[in-house]
Amino acid sequence: MTIADIGAAVIGTGFIGTVHVEALRRVGVDVRGVLGSSPERGAARASALGVRHAYPTLDDLLSDARVQVVHVTSPNDLHHSQARAVLEAGKHVVCEKPLAMTADESSDLVRLAAATGLVNATNFNIRYYPLNQHARKAVADGDLGEVRLVTGRYFQDWLLLDSDWNWRLQPDRGGALRAVGDIGSHWLDLMTFVTGQHVSSVMADLTTFIETRQEPTGPVETFSTDRSAETMTRDIATEDTATILLRFDGGARGAVSISQISPGRKNSLVYEIDGSDGAWSWDSEQPDQAWIGHRERPNEILIRNPALMNAAGQAAAALPGGHVEGFFDTFCAHFRAVYADVAAGGPSSSPGYPTFAAGHDEMLVREAIARSAREGRWVDVDRSTARSDAAHVETPA
Ligand SMILES: NC(=O)c1ccc[n+]([C@@H]2O[C@H](COP(=O)([O-])OP(=O)(O)OC[C@H]3O[C@@H](n4cnc5c(N)ncnc54)[C@H](O)[C@@H]3O)[C@@H](O)[C@H]2O)c1
Repeated sequence: MTIADIGAAVIGTGFIGTVHVEALRRVGVDVRGVLGSSPERGAARASALGVRHAYPTLDDLLSDARVQVVHVTSPNDLHHSQARAVLEAGKHVVCEKPLAMTADESSDLVRLAAATGLVNATNFNIRYYPLNQHARKAVADGDLGEVRLVTGRYFQDWLLLDSDWNWRLQPDRGGALRAVGDIGSHWLDLMTFVTGQHVSSVMADLTTFIETRQEPTGPVETFSTDRSAETMTRDIATEDTATILLRFDGGARGAVSISQISPGRKNSLVYEIDGSDGAWSWDSEQPDQAWIGHRERPNEILIRNPALMNAAGQAAAALPGGHVEGFFDTFCAHFRAVYADVAAGGPSSSPGYPTFAAGHDEMLVREAIARSAREGRWVDVDRSTARSDAAHVETPA
């Protein structure tokens, strides 16, 4: 089977569902249809996206024999039940992050995916910026020496005002942790991916600065700045910001700040890895370049360029240097890796892409973060017993 023979369907037709549809087309997958929150919404979005079919229900989607892969891009509270239904229907699944609402749910998905032998992926797309793939291999090859300090931030500003609203603000839809789950999940996964080290313990401080918000009475698109005249005042229980100290199982120490209320920061994931022989830093708002720090010679800027990157970076790059790649391209690179396994009929023995195991591991870290903030102390990440089946890092590409 080749990629052109594979049919996919996308659940959710919002901000990121649209990106999935367009990226799938770019890699050559046939998008058979979409499922919206209602048959009417699905039909309107299918028409706007030029997708041939809107399934009226999830059962209709799952009974379409021409669909072999389903992408779950609905709000977080639906991921577990929908991904479970997809696997039970014998279809491969790509699920958005966070994989689930709790580690028990994500653990269940890991077990089910293993039992079915189907391809499963969590969409930690930020791994697929070519310079992050390059960094992972460079660290594994010892280019930075011993990794000691892992620091950074993930800042956005789209929830700065009390009139900003989204389903993510409702714990029953987005999860008990908001900023950490929504964007911190990417940073935490990326650092485990690049360093090859798991977060082993955390000391977290979570703050809700905006304790009440105005919820519009009508629907709100993600990242929309339109304001509704009619609103209801809602108490907010989830964090606007998080500051977290980290210990990694390979000996590294770290610290990350996460915020959805930082004026001017639209989508800034920054990290720096300081090793004994050099340092590496990257910012998602300037994704085509990385900073490489040295003690005894001038520092370097590496512009993404297949001719200058290692094999892992080259594999994720689509364009020559100087032809800027970005957010969309990460989805394409990720999907190419996932669909190679779909075309082969099942997961390879050590998939290079983030599987449900990676999504589950991030949930375990998140539970430790929540507990640490609640109890005001360091908390170890619990990868014991039944949960440990998912606690591994995929091998570098
Ligand atoms: N990987 C990334 O970079 C990234 C970026 C943004 C969002 N996400 C994730 O994607 C998911 C969706 O986020 P978004 O920003 O696109 O939200 P969104 O609100 O823009 O879109 C969600 C869509 O799901 C639809 N929906 C609701 N209930 C549904 C149901 N029962 N069946 C089918 N569709 C349903 C909604 O109508 C909406 O179109 C979240 O889990 C989020 O964490 C990932």
